[in-house]
Amino acid sequence: MTHVVFVAPRFLENTNRYVRAFAELEDITFSVVSQDPEESIPPPLRARVAGHYRVADVLDASQLTRAVGAIARSIGRVDRLAGGLEQLQLPMAEARDALGIEGLSVAVARNFRDKDRMKEVLRARGVPVARSTLAHASRDIVAFVERVGFPVIVKPQAGLGTRGTYRIENELDLAALPPPSVAVPLQVEEFVRAREHTCETVTIRGVPVWRSGTRYFPTPLEVLETSWVQYCVLLPREDDDPTWTGFHAINAAALAALFGDAAGTAAGTALTHMEWFLREDGSAVVNEVGARPPGVHIMPLMGLAHETDLFADWARLVALDAFTPKPRRFAAGSAFFRGQGPGSRVASVEGVERAVAECGDALVEMRTPKVGQPRADGYEGEGWAIVKHETTDGLKHALRALIENVRVRYA
Ligand SMILES: Nc1ncnc2c1ncn2[C@@H]1O[C@H](COP(=O)(O)OP(=O)(O)O)[C@@H](O)[C@H]1O
Ligand SMILES: [Mg+2]
Repeated sequence: MTHVVFVAPRFLENTNRYVRAFAELEDITFSVVSQDPEESIPPPLRARVAGHYRVADVLDASQLTRAVGAIARSIGRVDRLAGGLEQLQLPMAEARDALGIEGLSVAVARNFRDKDRMKEVLRARGVPVARSTLAHASRDIVAFVERVGFPVIVKPQAGLGTRGTYRIENELDLAALPPPSVAVPLQVEEFVRAREHTCETVTIRGVPVWRSGTRYFPTPLEVLETSWVQYCVLLPREDDDPTWTGFHAINAAALAALFGDAAGTAAGTALTHMEWFLREDGSAVVNEVGARPPGVHIMPLMGLAHETDLFADWARLVALDAFTPKPRRFAAGSAFFRGQGPGSRVASVEGVERAVAECGDALVEMRTPKVGQPRADGYEGEGWAIVKHETTDGLKHALRALIENVRVRYA
């Protein structure tokens, strides 16, 4: 029986969806590494967990390696090491390399985690990407700007969640930027003016077997730059729209480049989350790729649109190399509620009843921000809602009803 070890930092709502998915999978032995104690595993799932090992920090590769090694000694050979968090991908790869576990190695994981290397690998294989450089000093940024012009975008070499990401429009912006160094370099890229899409791809041993895609409204960067904007993710009803299908060849080429020689191995069995830009002239550019399930509720959205449980499907894919492609039946979307104005806590939440009434049957789930809740720092805000509809237009109507009615204020 395949022995899967899942890394669950804490047993929180979203992580527990993954834990449940593995726990409910028949024909596997299932173990868990976590920072939370074993007692925190939701009781109905605990009985299915063969081995548990607690560490202080799951992101520390040596602790993780020790934990997985201990589970292997007490329960048996570990066949798969899985975890959903972006920051876990490299430490897990280090543990795999140290313990001889099949799957993403450090060499391949770095293609996904290091933004500079990712772009180099894609460019070398002819995949369209923005011009970029890794700046180790301010003069590197200046030289890059001389070549491509303003605006440019700067971001951490191994970023996530649009943290530390800035649009640099002019010399003033440039002067205000904390200078990069050899120790802390900065990824600098030509600014791509475009719509921002995602492409979620299931590959089995490197072969794409299923795709889904979403559009971000507006782009994560614009959301961060514009404090009053509420953010939406839209998964359209149409799965044969050329906007999306036209990208498939680039998606396949990009994944082949990033997985490289490991494509045909267990490393190439994955659900990947690719972000890509579609320019006005119809040309597409790959922005970045995560070798992990997507965030911003795209997992539940894919489940709703394809009438399946994508968490369960992912667990089965990872553990057993199996996936049954599902046809699309609905459009689905998520809206994120973000506060307005200065202040550090939510002071008022208005318009919820009206939003719910206007959404009608499209509303699937809603988490309204609570008065007193601390201000969130990312673009996902303090609350969210998930909607589903037979048509893309109906879904857009529901998303609009949410973000135009719900008003969150800070104080
Ligand atoms: N070259 C670029 N041109 C335009 N916008 C960009 C570019 N790179 C990043 N962005 C914006 O910044 C956001 C975050 O950058 P990204 O590369 O996705 O890093 P991460 O999501 O890991 O923080 C993107 O979603 C996009 O809105
Ligand atoms: Mg991103």
